[in-house]
Amino acid sequence: MRVLVCGGAGYIGSHMLPGLAAAGHQAVVFDDLSTGHREAVGDAPLVEGDLSRPGDLDAVFAGARFDAVMHFAARSLVAESVREPLAYYEHNVAGTLRLLQAMRRAGVERLVFSSTAAVYGEPRSAEIDEAHPIAPINPYGAGKAMVERMLADAARAYGLRSVSLRYFNAAGADPAAGIGESHDPETHLIPNVLRAMRGEGDGLKVYGADYPTRDGTCVRDYVHVHDLAAAHLAALDYMDSVPGAHAFNLGNGGGFSVLEVIEAARAVVGREVPYTVDARRPGDPAVLVASSALARERLGWRPAYTDIGAIIATAWAWHRNPRY
Ligand SMILES: NC(=O)c1ccc[n+]([C@@H]2O[C@H](COP(=O)([O-])OP(=O)(O)OC[C@H]3O[C@@H](n4cnc5c(N)ncnc54)[C@H](O)[C@@H]3O)[C@@H](O)[C@H]2O)c1
Repeated sequence: MRVLVCGGAGYIGSHMLPGLAAAGHQAVVFDDLSTGHREAVGDAPLVEGDLSRPGDLDAVFAGARFDAVMHFAARSLVAESVREPLAYYEHNVAGTLRLLQAMRRAGVERLVFSSTAAVYGEPRSAEIDEAHPIAPINPYGAGKAMVERMLADAARAYGLRSVSLRYFNAAGADPAAGIGESHDPETHLIPNVLRAMRGEGDGLKVYGADYPTRDGTCVRDYVHVHDLAAAHLAALDYMDSVPGAHAFNLGNGGGFSVLEVIEAARAVVGREVPYTVDARRPGDPAVLVASSALARERLGWRPAYTDIGAIIATAWAWHRNPRY
């Protein structure tokens, strides 16, 4: 298949590219490089363009016939979305609407969409499955839920086939391919732990040590970017045989607390992690862990990385010598 990878210069999108190549698919990256990196794209052709400009999209669809689109491009800072909700709706919702319109003009009928655990809002159960209410508590999550709704409507009206993959916390790297996580600002725990070990950044903060969890710190579900890429490939196959709009959680099913991540990083790297404990952040639930039973059953997906130390080891291999 020829696949257009929107946001393929970003963290998760770039980790999709070796997977697509290994599966024999041809990828073309469409990215405005707003948070992505040219170096992350490797050998794949890169078309620089902005989703919110229909002309940019029409040009890329006119250049080649695509069988499917994978859509990673978004802004994804929750706190920023609270401060600038209209910018987030413009970028993530209207931008995706323009993509869907351009796909329709070009006759492309398959989409894999990067959704998020943030569509669920405050968890009402220890493990979140897809039957959990969609009740986002910030504009970032609300925008992703709106896109999922558009996809459901487009499936009914036009027969657009789609799979929304609701990632929990993406983590890890592909050091062999020379790619890893590089965000500015970096809000994710594992890269910030590794930076703190290298004496970089503003110092690691643990937000809240008084949650009702096993050690008082927040518990999250970390899923390796290789496993995310494998789920996207499985989603392409799934859409071949099953029409409609589908949504699946992607997590590794086990939660790790902030202190467990810090301890695992200490064990992997062999260095102490300096940190301070700060107040809880508003809107941070105590536990966010996925049930990925549906993805296992329907997509035949099995995360290869279930051990947090193994995930951190790949991230460290990248962070000790990042190329961008
Ligand atoms: N990182 C996570 O843990 C996580 C968790 C859940 C969901 N997600 C979702 O996964 C996707 C990828 O996340 P990421 O961490 O790789 O983010 P990222 O910022 O590293 O990558 C996003 C990419 O999209 C590009 N982009 C942004 N706006 C664009 C536009 N208008 N036109 C063209 N390109 C544009 C950026 O330049 C970047 O290369 C996002 O949709 C995010 O919401 C990420």
